[in-house]
Amino acid sequence: MREVAGRVLIDAAREAAAHAHAPYSHFGVGAVALLADGQMVTGANFENASYGLSLCAETVTLATANSQGRLREIVAIGVIGGALAKDGTLGGSALVTPCGRCRQIINEAAQLAGRDIDIYCASADGSAFAYFRASELLPHAFGPADLGVK
Ligand code: THU
Repeated sequence: MREVAGRVLIDAAREAAAHAHAPYSHFGVGAVALLADGQMVTGANFENASYGLSLCAETVTLATANSQGRLREIVAIGVIGGALAKDGTLGGSALVTPCGRCRQIINEAAQLAGRDIDIYCASADGSAFAYFRASELLPHAFGPADLGVK
């Protein structure tokens, strides 16, 4: 069941990756946030000529969910990434998991939601697939609760 849910999210994340703006790294990442009512919010990495300003797919996705007033409704996240071909497809066998900064941003959503978030990750070629909990990827996290924010 978890595997099936994960595959649906990974498929949506793969579609989102087609819109990656990654002309510098040529590494595309797509992400999806599944909301409690079954709706999905997607995003892709968004690079910048000033490299350090680039935004990861997960960050774009969570900011989009927040802009829809739905940050607290996220129950699961899917992520896929790999070398970006000119036609927008991804390649590669390495599993892509959220970077450190994105883990902290995911923790913000998890703590505000009062639930752990399921995170599904996959390689572009489908050979690698993994499931984590947000608390597993960022144990002992500092978050809104530490500042008295609910
Ligand atoms: N990237 C993501 O979008 N998410 C991650 O979790 C890892 C890295 C992006 C950032 C940059 O545009 C490209 O992948 C290469 O680092």
